[in-house]
Amino acid sequence: MIMTSLSPLLSEVKHLQNSSVVKIFKSKKHTVALIKKEEKFFVLKWYEPGFQNSFFQESKILHEIKRQVLIPKLIESNREHQFLLLEYIPGKNVCDQINNQNIETKEKTRIIQQVAHWFYQFHSYYQQKSISLIHGDAHLRNFIITTNQTVYGLDFEESKPGKVSEDVANLCASILTTNPSFTKEKKQLQHQFIETYEQIIHQQIKNIDSLVKKAVKKTIQRRKK
Ligand SMILES: Nc1ncnc2c1ncn2[C@@H]1O[C@H](COP(=O)(O)OP(=O)(O)O)[C@@H](O)[C@H]1O
Ligand SMILES: [Mg+2]
Repeated sequence: MIMTSLSPLLSEVKHLQNSSVVKIFKSKKHTVALIKKEEKFFVLKWYEPGFQNSFFQESKILHEIKRQVLIPKLIESNREHQFLLLEYIPGKNVCDQINNQNIETKEKTRIIQQVAHWFYQFHSYYQQKSISLIHGDAHLRNFIITTNQTVYGLDFEESKPGKVSEDVANLCASILTTNPSFTKEKKQLQHQFIETYEQIIHQQIKNIDSLVKKAVKKTIQRRKK
Protein backbone atom coordinates (compact mmCIF):
# COMPACT_ATOMS: atom_id res chain seq x y z
CA MET A 1 0.00 0.00 0.00
CA ILE A 2 1.21 3.51 -0.83
CA MET A 3 1.63 5.59 2.33
CA THR A 4 0.10 8.97 1.64
CA SER A 5 -1.49 11.98 3.24
CA LEU A 6 -4.69 9.97 2.81
CA SER A 7 -3.73 7.45 5.46
CA PRO A 8 -5.37 9.33 8.35
CA LEU A 9 -8.63 9.64 6.40
CA LEU A 10 -8.66 5.98 5.41
CA SER A 11 -8.14 4.86 8.96
CA GLU A 12 -10.72 7.24 10.42
CA VAL A 13 -13.61 6.52 8.06
CA LYS A 14 -14.93 3.10 8.93
CA HIS A 15 -16.12 1.98 5.50
CA LEU A 16 -12.80 3.02 3.92
CA GLN A 17 -10.64 1.11 6.38
CA ASN A 18 -10.25 -1.89 4.09
CA SER A 19 -9.24 0.22 1.07
CA SER A 20 -5.78 0.71 -0.34
CA VAL A 21 -4.34 3.59 -2.37
CA VAL A 22 -3.35 2.50 -5.86
CA LYS A 23 -2.36 5.82 -7.39
CA ILE A 24 -2.34 9.53 -6.63
CA PHE A 25 -3.54 11.74 -9.50
CA LYS A 26 -2.10 15.15 -10.37
CA SER A 27 -4.18 17.69 -8.46
CA LYS A 28 -3.75 21.42 -8.01
CA LYS A 29 -5.18 21.74 -4.54
CA HIS A 30 -6.61 18.57 -3.15
CA THR A 31 -5.75 14.92 -2.73
CA VAL A 32 -7.22 12.81 -5.53
CA ALA A 33 -6.50 9.09 -5.48
CA LEU A 34 -7.43 5.84 -7.10
CA ILE A 35 -8.38 3.47 -4.32
CA LYS A 36 -9.22 -0.21 -4.27
CA LYS A 37 -11.90 -1.50 -1.98
CA GLU A 38 -13.06 -5.12 -2.02
CA GLU A 39 -11.54 -5.66 -5.48
CA LYS A 40 -13.31 -2.61 -6.91
CA PHE A 41 -11.73 0.69 -7.95
CA PHE A 42 -12.97 4.14 -6.92
CA VAL A 43 -11.69 7.69 -7.02
CA LEU A 44 -11.45 9.55 -3.74
CA LYS A 45 -11.32 13.35 -3.91
CA TRP A 46 -10.43 14.76 -0.52
CA TYR A 47 -10.77 18.52 -0.27
CA GLU A 48 -8.31 20.67 1.60
CA PRO A 49 -9.68 22.45 4.67
CA GLY A 50 -11.15 25.83 3.70
CA PHE A 51 -12.61 24.51 0.44
CA GLN A 52 -16.04 23.73 1.79
CA ASN A 53 -17.78 25.75 -0.93
CA SER A 54 -15.89 23.89 -3.67
CA PHE A 55 -16.88 20.59 -2.09
CA PHE A 56 -20.57 21.53 -1.98
CA GLN A 57 -20.50 23.00 -5.49
CA GLU A 58 -18.97 19.88 -7.02
CA SER A 59 -21.40 17.56 -5.17
CA LYS A 60 -24.34 19.64 -6.33
CA ILE A 61 -23.34 19.70 -10.00
CA LEU A 62 -22.46 15.98 -10.11
CA HIS A 63 -25.92 15.26 -8.73
CA GLU A 64 -27.78 17.64 -11.04
CA ILE A 65 -26.29 16.55 -14.36
CA LYS A 66 -25.86 12.84 -13.70
CA ARG A 67 -28.45 11.68 -16.24
CA GLN A 68 -27.67 14.21 -18.97
CA VAL A 69 -23.92 14.52 -19.19
CA LEU A 70 -21.12 11.91 -19.20
CA ILE A 71 -19.50 12.22 -15.80
CA PRO A 72 -18.36 9.77 -13.12
CA LYS A 73 -21.17 8.58 -10.84
CA LEU A 74 -21.14 10.17 -7.43
CA ILE A 75 -21.10 7.32 -4.95
CA GLU A 76 -20.72 9.25 -1.73
CA SER A 77 -20.52 12.86 -0.73
CA ASN A 78 -19.14 12.95 2.81
CA ARG A 79 -19.74 16.30 4.52
CA GLU A 80 -18.11 15.37 7.79
CA HIS A 81 -14.74 14.58 6.22
CA GLN A 82 -15.20 16.64 3.08
CA PHE A 83 -14.53 13.99 0.47
CA LEU A 84 -16.25 12.64 -2.62
CA LEU A 85 -16.18 9.00 -3.62
CA LEU A 86 -16.55 8.69 -7.39
CA GLU A 87 -16.86 6.00 -9.98
CA TYR A 88 -13.45 5.37 -11.52
CA ILE A 89 -13.36 6.11 -15.25
CA PRO A 90 -10.58 3.96 -16.70
CA GLY A 91 -8.93 5.56 -19.69
CA LYS A 92 -6.41 8.15 -20.75
CA ASN A 93 -6.29 11.76 -19.74
CA VAL A 94 -7.29 13.92 -22.74
CA CYS A 95 -4.45 16.38 -22.03
CA ASP A 96 -1.86 13.60 -22.38
CA GLN A 97 -3.49 12.32 -25.58
CA ILE A 98 -3.62 15.74 -27.24
CA ASN A 99 0.02 16.41 -26.38
CA ASN A 100 1.27 12.97 -27.39
CA GLN A 101 3.47 13.30 -30.49
CA ASN A 102 2.83 9.66 -31.42
CA ILE A 103 -0.91 10.09 -31.89
CA GLU A 104 -2.19 11.13 -35.31
CA THR A 105 -3.87 14.50 -35.80
CA LYS A 106 -6.95 12.71 -37.11
CA GLU A 107 -7.38 10.88 -33.83
CA LYS A 108 -6.77 14.05 -31.81
CA THR A 109 -9.36 15.86 -33.91
CA ARG A 110 -11.92 13.19 -33.03
CA ILE A 111 -11.17 13.63 -29.34
CA ILE A 112 -11.46 17.42 -29.56
CA GLN A 113 -14.81 17.10 -31.35
CA GLN A 114 -16.04 14.88 -28.54
CA VAL A 115 -14.94 17.43 -25.96
CA ALA A 116 -16.93 20.08 -27.88
CA HIS A 117 -19.99 17.79 -27.78
CA TRP A 118 -19.47 17.25 -24.07
CA PHE A 119 -19.49 21.01 -23.45
CA TYR A 120 -22.62 21.36 -25.52
CA GLN A 121 -24.38 18.71 -23.39
CA PHE A 122 -23.23 20.41 -20.20
CA HIS A 123 -24.15 23.95 -21.28
CA SER A 124 -27.49 23.00 -22.78
CA TYR A 125 -28.58 21.19 -19.62
CA TYR A 126 -28.50 24.51 -17.75
CA GLN A 127 -29.64 26.66 -20.68
CA GLN A 128 -32.80 24.56 -20.93
CA LYS A 129 -33.47 25.43 -17.31
CA SER A 130 -32.64 29.10 -17.94
CA ILE A 131 -29.74 28.86 -15.52
CA SER A 132 -26.50 30.54 -16.49
CA LEU A 133 -23.82 28.10 -15.41
CA ILE A 134 -20.46 27.20 -16.88
CA HIS A 135 -17.84 24.60 -16.00
CA GLY A 136 -15.42 27.29 -14.88
CA ASP A 137 -12.25 25.19 -15.09
CA ALA A 138 -12.32 24.23 -18.76
CA HIS A 139 -9.01 22.61 -19.54
CA LEU A 140 -7.92 19.37 -21.17
CA ARG A 141 -6.77 17.68 -17.96
CA ASN A 142 -10.38 17.62 -16.74
CA PHE A 143 -11.36 15.07 -19.42
CA ILE A 144 -10.85 11.33 -19.72
CA ILE A 145 -11.18 9.30 -22.88
CA THR A 146 -12.08 5.65 -22.34
CA THR A 147 -10.89 2.69 -24.42
CA ASN A 148 -14.19 2.70 -26.30
CA GLN A 149 -13.54 6.35 -27.24
CA THR A 150 -16.07 8.02 -24.93
CA VAL A 151 -15.18 11.35 -23.35
CA TYR A 152 -16.06 11.98 -19.68
CA GLY A 153 -15.85 15.38 -17.99
CA LEU A 154 -14.57 15.96 -14.45
CA ASP A 155 -13.97 18.58 -11.80
CA PHE A 156 -16.96 20.83 -11.17
CA GLU A 157 -15.76 22.65 -8.08
CA GLU A 158 -15.18 25.93 -9.94
CA SER A 159 -18.47 25.94 -11.86
CA LYS A 160 -20.15 29.33 -11.66
CA PRO A 161 -22.56 31.65 -13.44
CA GLY A 162 -21.06 32.87 -16.69
CA LYS A 163 -21.09 32.89 -20.46
CA VAL A 164 -20.49 29.63 -22.29
CA SER A 165 -17.94 31.45 -24.47
CA GLU A 166 -15.71 31.63 -21.38
CA ASP A 167 -15.52 27.82 -21.20
CA VAL A 168 -14.91 27.61 -24.95
CA ALA A 169 -12.10 30.20 -24.78
CA ASN A 170 -10.46 28.56 -21.78
CA LEU A 171 -10.49 25.14 -23.41
CA CYS A 172 -8.87 26.70 -26.50
CA ALA A 173 -6.21 28.28 -24.28
CA SER A 174 -5.56 24.87 -22.74
CA ILE A 175 -5.11 23.31 -26.20
CA LEU A 176 -2.75 26.08 -27.29
CA THR A 177 -0.63 26.52 -24.17
CA THR A 178 0.02 22.96 -22.99
CA ASN A 179 3.32 21.47 -24.10
CA PRO A 180 4.03 21.42 -27.09
CA SER A 181 2.47 24.88 -27.23
CA PHE A 182 1.28 26.90 -30.23
CA THR A 183 2.25 24.30 -32.84
CA LYS A 184 0.49 24.22 -36.19
CA GLU A 185 -1.39 21.14 -35.03
CA LYS A 186 -2.53 22.90 -31.84
CA LYS A 187 -3.85 25.89 -33.79
CA GLN A 188 -5.72 23.51 -36.06
CA LEU A 189 -7.20 21.66 -33.08
CA GLN A 190 -8.38 24.81 -31.36
CA HIS A 191 -10.08 25.93 -34.59
CA GLN A 192 -11.68 22.52 -34.84
CA PHE A 193 -12.96 22.84 -31.28
CA ILE A 194 -14.61 26.21 -31.94
CA GLU A 195 -15.96 25.09 -35.30
CA THR A 196 -17.51 21.93 -33.86
CA TYR A 197 -19.13 23.82 -30.99
CA GLU A 198 -20.48 26.47 -33.37
CA GLN A 199 -21.81 23.81 -35.74
CA ILE A 200 -23.72 22.13 -32.92
CA ILE A 201 -25.32 25.36 -31.70
CA HIS A 202 -25.89 26.63 -35.29
CA GLN A 203 -24.42 29.93 -34.26
CA GLN A 204 -21.14 31.75 -34.18
CA ILE A 205 -19.63 32.68 -30.83
CA LYS A 206 -19.24 36.45 -30.64
CA ASN A 207 -15.66 37.74 -30.31
CA ILE A 208 -14.28 34.26 -29.79
CA ASP A 209 -10.83 35.11 -31.19
CA SER A 210 -10.28 37.96 -28.76
CA LEU A 211 -11.69 35.87 -25.89
CA VAL A 212 -9.18 33.12 -26.71
CA LYS A 213 -6.33 35.66 -26.77
CA LYS A 214 -7.34 36.93 -23.33
CA ALA A 215 -7.67 33.39 -21.99
CA VAL A 216 -4.20 32.51 -23.32
CA LYS A 217 -2.68 35.55 -21.59
CA LYS A 218 -4.39 34.68 -18.32
CA THR A 219 -3.32 31.03 -18.52
CA ILE A 220 0.31 31.95 -19.14
CA GLN A 221 0.28 34.47 -16.27
CA ARG A 222 -1.26 31.92 -13.90
CA ARG A 223 1.38 29.31 -14.76
CA LYS A 224 4.18 31.80 -13.99
CA LYS A 225 2.97 32.18 -10.41
N1 LIG B 1 -13.61 9.60 -11.66
C1 LIG B 1 -12.36 9.65 -12.12
N2 LIG B 1 -11.89 8.66 -12.90
C2 LIG B 1 -10.61 8.70 -13.37
N3 LIG B 1 -9.74 9.68 -13.11
C3 LIG B 1 -10.16 10.70 -12.34
C4 LIG B 1 -11.48 10.75 -11.81
N4 LIG B 1 -11.61 11.87 -11.06
C5 LIG B 1 -10.41 12.50 -11.13
N5 LIG B 1 -9.54 11.83 -11.89
C6 LIG B 1 -8.13 12.21 -12.18
O1 LIG B 1 -7.67 13.01 -11.11
C7 LIG B 1 -7.28 14.32 -11.57
C8 LIG B 1 -7.64 15.37 -10.53
O2 LIG B 1 -9.04 15.36 -10.28
P1 LIG B 1 -9.90 16.71 -10.34
O3 LIG B 1 -11.30 16.40 -9.96
O4 LIG B 1 -9.69 17.33 -11.67
O5 LIG B 1 -9.24 17.57 -9.17
P2 LIG B 1 -8.45 18.97 -9.17
O6 LIG B 1 -9.42 19.95 -8.63
O7 LIG B 1 -7.32 18.75 -8.26
O8 LIG B 1 -8.02 19.30 -10.57
C9 LIG B 1 -7.99 14.48 -12.93
O9 LIG B 1 -7.30 15.34 -13.79
C10 LIG B 1 -8.00 13.04 -13.44
O10 LIG B 1 -6.79 12.72 -14.08
MG1 LIG C 1 -8.92 19.15 -12.35
